[in-house]
Amino acid sequence: MLQQKNLWVLLAMVNIIGLAGFNYLCHAEGKPHRIVLDTDVDTDDLLALFYLLKLNRSEFELEVTGLVCSLVHRVDGQQMTSFDDLVLCLLQAVTVSTNSWSDAGHGVSQIYDILYMMGRDDVAVGMGGEGGIAEDGHIFPDVGGFLPLAEQGNTTAGGCRYRQAIPVGLRGRLDFDSNYGLRKAFLPQVHNLHLGYGIAVLHSGIPLTLVPLDATNTIPTNENFFKAFEQNQHTYEAQYGFRSLKMTRDTWSNDHFYTSHYMWDPFAAGVAVSAMRRGAENEFAEMEYMNITVVTSDEPYGISDRSNPFFKDRDAPRFNLTKGGVHSGHVQTGLRDPFCFVENEKGRCEDGYTKEVSGAEAVRVLVATRAKPSPDRNSTLDRAFFKSFLDVLNDPRQSGRFNFTTQFPHYKEVLYKPDFGTKRLGKPVVFDMDMSVGDFLALFYLLKVPVQEINVKVIVQNTTMGIVVSPTGWANAATIDIVYDLLHMMGRDDIPVGLGDVFAMNQSDPLFSAVGDCKYLKVIPHGSGGLLDSDTLYGLARDLPRSPRRYTAENSVKYGAPRDTDHPELRQPLALEIWESVVKTLDPGSKITVLTNGPLTSLAKIIQNENDISSVIREVYVVGGHISHNRTEKGNVPNIDLDHYTELNMFLDPLAAKTVFESSLDITLIPLGIQRRVGSFPEILERLRKMNTTPEALFARRLLSRLYHLKETHYRYQHMDTFLGEILGAVVLAGNFSKLDPTFLVKPIKVLAEGVESEDGGVVTDEKQGRLVKIVENVNLGAYYDLFTEQLSSKEQSAVIGSFDEQRRNWSVPLKLT
Ligand SMILES: *[C@@H]1O[C@H](CO)[C@@H](O)[C@H](O)[C@H]1NC(C)=O
Ligand SMILES: *[C@@H]1O[C@H](CO)[C@@H](O)[C@H](O)[C@H]1NC(C)=O
Ligand SMILES: *[C@@H]1O[C@H](CO)[C@@H](O)[C@H](O)[C@H]1NC(C)=O
Ligand SMILES: *[C@@H]1O[C@H](CO)[C@@H](O)[C@H](O)[C@H]1NC(C)=O
Ligand SMILES: *[C@@H]1O[C@H](CO)[C@@H](O)[C@H](O)[C@H]1NC(C)=O
Ligand SMILES: *[C@@H]1O[C@H](CO)[C@@H](O)[C@H](O)[C@H]1NC(C)=O
Ligand SMILES: *[C@@H]1O[C@H](CO)[C@@H](O)[C@H](O)[C@H]1NC(C)=O
Ligand SMILES: *[C@@H]1O[C@H](CO)[C@@H](O)[C@H](O)[C@H]1NC(C)=O
Ligand SMILES: *[C@@H]1O[C@H](CO)[C@@H](O)[C@H](O)[C@H]1NC(C)=O
Ligand SMILES: *[C@@H]1O[C@H](CO)[C@@H](O)[C@H](O)[C@H]1NC(C)=O
Ligand SMILES: *[C@@H]1O[C@H](CO)[C@@H](O)[C@H](O)[C@H]1NC(C)=O
Repeated sequence: MLQQKNLWVLLAMVNIIGLAGFNYLCHAEGKPHRIVLDTDVDTDDLLALFYLLKLNRSEFELEVTGLVCSLVHRVDGQQMTSFDDLVLCLLQAVTVSTNSWSDAGHGVSQIYDILYMMGRDDVAVGMGGEGGIAEDGHIFPDVGGFLPLAEQGNTTAGGCRYRQAIPVGLRGRLDFDSNYGLRKAFLPQVHNLHLGYGIAVLHSGIPLTLVPLDATNTIPTNENFFKAFEQNQHTYEAQYGFRSLKMTRDTWSNDHFYTSHYMWDPFAAGVAVSAMRRGAENEFAEMEYMNITVVTSDEPYGISDRSNPFFKDRDAPRFNLTKGGVHSGHVQTGLRDPFCFVENEKGRCEDGYTKEVSGAEAVRVLVATRAKPSPDRNSTLDRAFFKSFLDVLNDPRQSGRFNFTTQFPHYKEVLYKPDFGTKRLGKPVVFDMDMSVGDFLALFYLLKVPVQEINVKVIVQNTTMGIVVSPTGWANAATIDIVYDLLHMMGRDDIPVGLGDVFAMNQSDPLFSAVGDCKYLKVIPHGSGGLLDSDTLYGLARDLPRSPRRYTAENSVKYGAPRDTDHPELRQPLALEIWESVVKTLDPGSKITVLTNGPLTSLAKIIQNENDISSVIREVYVVGGHISHNRTEKGNVPNIDLDHYTELNMFLDPLAAKTVFESSLDITLIPLGIQRRVGSFPEILERLRKMNTTPEALFARRLLSRLYHLKETHYRYQHMDTFLGEILGAVVLAGNFSKLDPTFLVKPIKVLAEGVESEDGGVVTDEKQGRLVKIVENVNLGAYYDLFTEQLSSKEQSAVIGSFDEQRRNWSVPLKLT
């Protein structure tokens, strides 16, 4: 009988090492083998997925049974028998585990597009569930997969103890989320995506084949293989696979790609498939049974330094773990945990390692120890798996139906730019958004304000987890593509979009700035109501027309890349560059108005870069901050145990907020108090229903109806009304004061940023040190809803192309030349 702790230890390992593409394979008598792929959707996972999708379906069926089977759910499974036989249940689904190289919303979008290209919309796709682990250690069957066990509480929000080793922006999650920008350039797009919220049912016990890193490291992606792949792209999947691999090579940070990149996940898939066919006689790897465990803590075991969440502050350890056992020691707390990194010595932390052990803590597992050489000694491909991989991907059977450009015979990339004729353009505005759903609504509004009044330029934070927003403003950097799509819809492909920093101030690692901590960001849930939803715009992003502009990992040496990619002329501009170009094109004497709808990271950086900030910025509207006069009204930071009186935009980057509020800028604050008063769904929906619709008003109505419906029906969506509050900044900035009738208060305030979690981001009145700031205290509520809905329904400055559907229709027939 297998003990429960062994199981979750394996789970922890999958999560910690991010050994994705790990396959759990099951076999029922007389039926095809079925396969569950647990993937974190990085580039080589995609190669593995193609490999599996192309297997002979009478041998390996990917049928849908309505069950989503994932290792996670085996954690509290009772039917577990033994690990001696290779696996027994099967695949009917792809589960997306997002605890490592990609983010759920983007990862799942890519999987859907791939399945669509491959004609396999029947394959079920499971997302991490909303469940967690209760205080008493009970594991809910729909536990998430968003977090490693050590960080898992009862929500999908949690720390990044291990994940923080993964870069967030370039060459990290941003590139995987977008597959270097290739997904939107190449893959066909599924329409009508139905995101399943919540998931999954426990199936049955599944023995494991382990393909540890030691084995995958015996199959480097060497130059001969790479060349052979380049010459063998006879299917769409081979084309997409090769391009992805090539971008990985072209953006590799050093010159050792061919010896330091491995065919990790495809190889694991191959080994697993062969193991199903032939048991221990594997075609691709030498196999051996071993008794192993995954070490989740460091020696000496049993010490109590409060780093180990399974033991910390508990009378009885979680999951009945043994005090003094391999799981009871110090657990790495961060990238530069001094326990692990002793000066001038090799790191000594071992949590996450797989170890051969004996005794009760061991699990007997079939382990692939090394990749087998090619049986054909004359072949330039020196590993048996390489040939199989290329044969399978190039097999004309079960291959992709089309790519994006062949799907639409009359596809054409058009950039829409407005012609304002002789209109005098209004004040230049820079909108600093963190891509929460409210920000997109605010952006619609800004684009509709007559250009004689304001002239918008947009900056997006290099976000992700670093600098995300108010209770709902939660999006990863790759979501920048939705901004491009919205601008395209509105005919504003002329507006430059810059990507800001992915980390809040002083959160990135001092030596290797691509990685960093999530001290503040950890409060944002990964699942429902959080990043998963923002990154897909609550499932509606695909309804927007597709912009020819999109994030791309293309880059050039000139801009600091390790080498020029195929299209060095392309590149995602950065926030500061956009800022500088806006400043350069200012008319003499004119100044910029800034609206920030998220954390103040980008603005703080701009302030640090400008010598005389007040000479270029006229005023700043800051949506955020909570003025709690007498500590009765709480703030809105979610998933935090403390009594807190802070607002999320300030909390997510307190140092940046402090920098902004200590500057000489003229600031108008739109604080939480007034935002809360403009959060009525019925008021706004009622008005939108009555209006003559424009495509943008229609889209806003669908989006808001969805949020309202979720709020009404699901406990994870209680915070939806704060999105409405986020629009207020844009409406105040547009300045139709005769209707809106705002009242202001002027107060000396300062922002706390001392590194104390319970207080950081707090706004206090300080007669001596505070800066005088204009605070919006009240507005005419009815007028606010009127202004927003009337502006969105106006025929002026309305959408140029209403939706992706309209675009599809136009790309399906020849363009009429006039
Ligand atoms: C799949 O396998 C079956 C039985 O082994 C065989 O008859 C069939 O030709 C194979 N099909 C493909 C597409 O390889
Ligand atoms: C999560 O746990 C906290 C206490 O740790 C409890 O207050 C809260 O209600 C729980 N939430 C859910 C959704 O179970
Ligand atoms: C789609 O496939 C066709 C035919 O193989 C190819 O010419 C074209 O470049 C591909 N499109 C993209 C965007 O790669
Ligand atoms: C693994 O453990 C089993 C008992 O669980 C034992 O019979 C076997 O000899 C062990 N194998 C190795 C290689 O240690
Ligand atoms: C821990 O052990 C107790 C008693 O031995 C048992 O009742 C309980 O179910 C165990 N809990 C877990 C999570 O294994
Ligand atoms: C390898 O090449 C040699 C000489 O070209 C040939 O004699 C031999 O049969 C080849 N071996 C295989 C396995 O193809
Ligand atoms: C994102 O921010 C990091 C850290 O500040 C920076 O090194 C990187 O160049 C930025 N990347 C982009 C695409 O803006
Ligand atoms: C933040 O970082 C800057 C430079 O990286 C440093 O000068 C400053 O002292 C840091 N501030 C805090 C509060 O850590
Ligand atoms: C606290 O302040 C709020 C307004 O900010 C007010 O409505 C409330 O009466 C005050 N409570 C106390 C106890 O002073
Ligand atoms: C104010 O809003 C109303 C519509 O609500 C509009 O008719 C009027 O033109 C706006 N005024 C300005 C100055 O934008
Ligand atoms: C799409 O096609 C219709 C009908 O041919 C045409 O009227 C419309 O202008 C086209 N839209 C765009 C954005 O090209």
